[in-house]
Amino acid sequence: MIESTTATYDVGGVLLERPFKIRRLGHYGLNAMRMEECLRFYTEDLGFRISDRLDFGARAERKEDIAGFGDAGGYFMRHGSDHHSFVLFNKRVREHLDKLRRFAPGVTMNQISWQVGSLEEVVRGGEWQASQGMEIQRSGRDMPGSNWHTYFYDPDGHTNELYYGMEQIGWDGKSKPFSMHDRGFHQKPQLPQIPEDEEVRSSAQRGDDLVSGSALRDALSGAEYDVEGIMLPRPFKIIKCGPISLFVRDLDAATRFYTHQLGLRVSEETVWRGHRCVFLRANTEHHTIVLCPIELRETLGLRDDSSTLAAGFQVGSYRQLREAREFFKSRGAKFVELPSELHPGIDYAFHVLDPDGQAVQIYFSMEQIGWDGQTRPAAQRPDVRADAWPAALAEQPDVYGGESLLGPLG
Ligand SMILES: [Fe+2]
Repeated sequence: MIESTTATYDVGGVLLERPFKIRRLGHYGLNAMRMEECLRFYTEDLGFRISDRLDFGARAERKEDIAGFGDAGGYFMRHGSDHHSFVLFNKRVREHLDKLRRFAPGVTMNQISWQVGSLEEVVRGGEWQASQGMEIQRSGRDMPGSNWHTYFYDPDGHTNELYYGMEQIGWDGKSKPFSMHDRGFHQKPQLPQIPEDEEVRSSAQRGDDLVSGSALRDALSGAEYDVEGIMLPRPFKIIKCGPISLFVRDLDAATRFYTHQLGLRVSEETVWRGHRCVFLRANTEHHTIVLCPIELRETLGLRDDSSTLAAGFQVGSYRQLREAREFFKSRGAKFVELPSELHPGIDYAFHVLDPDGQAVQIYFSMEQIGWDGQTRPAAQRPDVRADAWPAALAEQPDVYGGESLLGPLG
């Protein structure tokens, strides 16, 4: 890898160290073993809605090779208007089929996908990654989802994606019609491209059925919980995906990738049982990615075949978090205790295992970091006891700060 460059790049009229600027973690995905059970967990329990299903089974040369692996579909799911904020793929099917990409042993994170501000940033960013010695997995534009992207790997083999232009799903829940998938690209696009508005106009002109896309509603229909004024099938609403906590083999190499290659900033480091953990942010949230040494996996008692320490999801309020904890108890979820040193900046959180035994982190508020990069002093963070959460919290200046959900709760 080439050492730090002094070149500056004009990103929308601002000179930056890289030809792109990550704005947010837009989506991520998991490769599942117990596909049907995980699908039920992420749709029924967590409330993700399926935007589109891709039939990866159809890509197998011999059906018997993937028989017994369960549902071979790839599920694109959303919590808001982004076509997908979470994806669930069949681990064994993907590993059998994938010629273009290699999943390193233990990698269950399908992708870590970063939103940048423009198609130019995706294309120039991909060129810059290649010039830095990064192996480019693929570039182009995927359908379904319509996002332009370039994919490459972190040092542990986790696929990272820079993307722009996620398809937006509206009130009717419809994704784009299949006929519009003709605007998919399997290579780096020439710049500039026509806007989506023109794609939709020409699709209508040629007679496409614009409302023929997939539209799946909430997997649960009984709306029995009053969530701050709206009746929902569960007592909470996911408003954001992330952070992602990873186990890595070389903490310094991984930290260098996420800082130098992606431009994330280190917010804080903690030490737990003699092991250093690094917390990095993409925007104003305290952390978007957590890097912990793989040696911690056994100490924590987490599944021994996954480099994903935890997959994080934010709910809309403290009350929702408290009620979500009761909801998961009532549905028989398995809870795990993770030390607070592994989530500084998140005061209140609980962790449950998905049907694959993958730890899932649920929280409601993340400390926000301003222009000076300072985290909240430890003395000003509450001393939280997992078994004694107060009924209500005192206000903090950054509570309910950061990214907001656009649109209705359900
Ligand atoms: Fe993606």
